[in-house]
Amino acid sequence: MGTVGTETANPATPEVGQALEEGWTLPASWYSDEALLRIERRKIFERSWQYAGRSEQVVEPRSFFTTQAGHVPTVVVRDRDGDLRAFVNVCRHRGHIVAQGEGCRETLQCPYHAWTYDLDGSLRRAPRSEREPGFDPAGFSLLPMSVDTWGPFVFVNPDPDAAPLAETLGELPALVARSGLDLGVLRFHDHYEWEIGVNWKIGLENYLECYHCAVAHPGFSKVIDVAPDAYELRTSATFSSQFGPVRESALAGNGKAPYVPRGEVTQAQYHFIWPNTTINIDPGPANISIERWVPVGTGKVIEVSDYWFGEDVSDEQKKELIDFGTQVALEDVSLCESVHQGLGSGMVPRGRLMGQSEQLIAHFQRLVFEALAD
Ligand code: FES
Ligand SMILES: [Fe+2]
Repeated sequence: MGTVGTETANPATPEVGQALEEGWTLPASWYSDEALLRIERRKIFERSWQYAGRSEQVVEPRSFFTTQAGHVPTVVVRDRDGDLRAFVNVCRHRGHIVAQGEGCRETLQCPYHAWTYDLDGSLRRAPRSEREPGFDPAGFSLLPMSVDTWGPFVFVNPDPDAAPLAETLGELPALVARSGLDLGVLRFHDHYEWEIGVNWKIGLENYLECYHCAVAHPGFSKVIDVAPDAYELRTSATFSSQFGPVRESALAGNGKAPYVPRGEVTQAQYHFIWPNTTINIDPGPANISIERWVPVGTGKVIEVSDYWFGEDVSDEQKKELIDFGTQVALEDVSLCESVHQGLGSGMVPRGRLMGQSEQLIAHFQRLVFEALAD
C-alpha cells in the first residue's frame, strides 16, 4: 500500500517529525529527492510570501517587472488606476512566458501568438478568436497572485487568497527599525545573482547558523562577535533573527578586521523570512540587502540579492561592505557544496543538530516538515 498510481506517499511521516523533536535533522534524502521537490513547490512555494523586487520598479501607473516566486514565473504590475497587482506570468493560451524584463506598457502581450492582456490581467485580444465559436476571453485572464509591499520591498505570494503579508512579517519591521535604519531613505545600489549547486535548504540552513563562523569566516568574525554568549538567536512563527554585536577591536580599527564598522548601524542583523527570503544589515554606515533563494532543481539554487545604502555612504564604504558580504558568501558556497555532496552520498542518513547554536535550523526544518505534513 504506500503508493497509489503515481502518487507518492507523503514523506513527512510521524517518524521524521519525532526525529526532529529529538534533535536530528531532516533525512538526507530530502535534499536530492525529485518527488519531494515537487511537493515542496506545491506546499511551500505556491503558498508563501517571497521577496519579488523593488517598490521603485512599480511606482508609475503601467510599470511592471518580472520575477520568480520559487518556480512560479511572476509579473508585478502597477495598473492604470494605480493598484499594485501580480500575476502568474504564463500565457493562458499555450504557456509561453508573457512579459519579459521590466518597463512601462499599456498591455502585456505574449510574444508567441500575440494574446494581449490588460494590466488588470484580463485577456483583451486573442488573434483569430472571432473564428472560434464559443471562445470566451473572460475565461482566460492571467492567474492572479497576492502582492504587497514593505517599504522598498515588494513581496508576492502565488496564493491569491493569502493572509496579508503583515501577518508573515510580524514584529520584523520593528526589529529592523531598531537597528537604526530608516528604510524610507535608502537608495538602491545594485542587483547580484549567484547560482549555487546545492539544494535550496542547504543554502538556507547554512545561513541560519553562525556555529561555523569562527571556523569558516575569519574576516567576518573579526568584525562581529560570534561567541555563543554574544551572538543572539531568536525565532518567531514565520521568521527568525540573528543579532551580532560589533567587536570593540574592529571599531577601534586595530583588530585586522576587513573594514571599520563605524556608523549608524551598531549591530549586525540577519533575518530569515519563511520560506526563502533573507535580509542582511551589517554594522557601519546605513546598508541593507535582501535575497530570495530560488530552487531551480534539487541540486541548484539561485540566490538573488538586492543591495541598498544610505545616500551619504561613500563609494569606498559601499565597496567595503559589498566585499565583506561577498567574502562570506564565497566561503559559504564551498561549505554548502561540500554538504550537498556529503548528503548526496546517502551514507549518513541524518545529521545531529546542536540544540543551542543551531536552533534556527531546527525552527526552519520544523516549518518545512509542517508545510509538507499539511
Ligand atoms: S502561448 Fe501565448 S499567445 Fe500563444
Ligand atoms: Fe556562513
